[in-house]
Amino acid sequence: MSDRVPVRDDLGDVVPYGAPQLDVPVRLNTNETAEPPPPAFLEAVADGVRELQLHRYPDRPAAALRAAIAGVEGLTPDRVWAANGSNEILLQLFQAYGGPGRRLLLFRPGYSAHPLIARVANTDAVEHDLPEDFRLTPDVASEAVRRHRPHLVCIANPNNPSGVPTELDAVRALHDAGDALVVLDEAYVEFGGVSARELLDELPRLVVSRTFSKAYRLAGLRLGYLLAHDWVVDDLRKVRLPYHLDAVKQVAGLAALRMRDDLLEHVPRVCAERDRVAGALRQLGDVHVWPSTGNFLLFRTEVPGVFERLLERGVLVRDFSTRPRLEGCLRVTVGTPYENDVFLEALRAVVAD
Ligand SMILES: Cc1ncc(COP(=O)(O)O)c(C=O)c1O
Repeated sequence: MSDRVPVRDDLGDVVPYGAPQLDVPVRLNTNETAEPPPPAFLEAVADGVRELQLHRYPDRPAAALRAAIAGVEGLTPDRVWAANGSNEILLQLFQAYGGPGRRLLLFRPGYSAHPLIARVANTDAVEHDLPEDFRLTPDVASEAVRRHRPHLVCIANPNNPSGVPTELDAVRALHDAGDALVVLDEAYVEFGGVSARELLDELPRLVVSRTFSKAYRLAGLRLGYLLAHDWVVDDLRKVRLPYHLDAVKQVAGLAALRMRDDLLEHVPRVCAERDRVAGALRQLGDVHVWPSTGNFLLFRTEVPGVFERLLERGVLVRDFSTRPRLEGCLRVTVGTPYENDVFLEALRAVVAD
């Protein structure tokens, strides 16, 4: 007799997702936004919550929220789906179109949660190496699809951790080289680059996933959505849990869309700071910075122990230095001008040391 039940065999060696949540003065490691949403937004959410009947289940299809998203995106509501963060959108997609015997094509380096979510959904993931500049070209895209013959393809636009945008010709190539569902994870697209949204009518197997966690400044809300063809939305109903989207979240999402301009108002400031920090990093000798259209920057340095030495100075960034393809790489989220200055000063001191 054993006191514990072994976890599913295929999950034995899974390392849980775990970007550190440390209480340090300057936290620039999870690509959140530095400025909180305006107080008027919290008032609007509170007003909406007061109207709720919390003894009742929420509206199961989240019809009002999906209609509001559809209005913003210029689509009909039957082409919009919402879930608890874009991570859950991806999980539902992988559950619906992946599973035993199905293959997911990812690109490396990419967002570390993609292979993890695939594992949870019992889906085989293959990771195809991107070229040195981490740009997916149409040739690389077609070659990868022809070689791996996936049922699903997923890449972030812009990509994480590189910040490099995924070009629309490469999206077309991913789609046209095979018959996979092509998922563009556009968690950061409001910060720059071109959205694959404009290809939705051209490419019948394209899905675009978005989030309220980044440019909308609502990482704590856990709300994401997808734009697709109506058959995808129909299929996702088969894997979603009953009443998966709670009533408070639906109200908050509606308030966010009503106050969209106020919530997104900080985006130009973030982009200007990103470009300023990138310029300053390029001034440091021996630091390579990838061009980013996200709210973060990936940089490589040969100097050892940079992550720990920044942390000693109260600055937390994301350490990718031991990951394949990312040797010596760190990722920094764009913070407030003050936080960015603290980061740059600390890095200058570490590099000069
Ligand atoms: C590429 C990418 N997709 C999705 C997410 C997660 O988004 P959400 O908070 O909507 O689950 C992140 C978060 O860092 C991300 O980098």
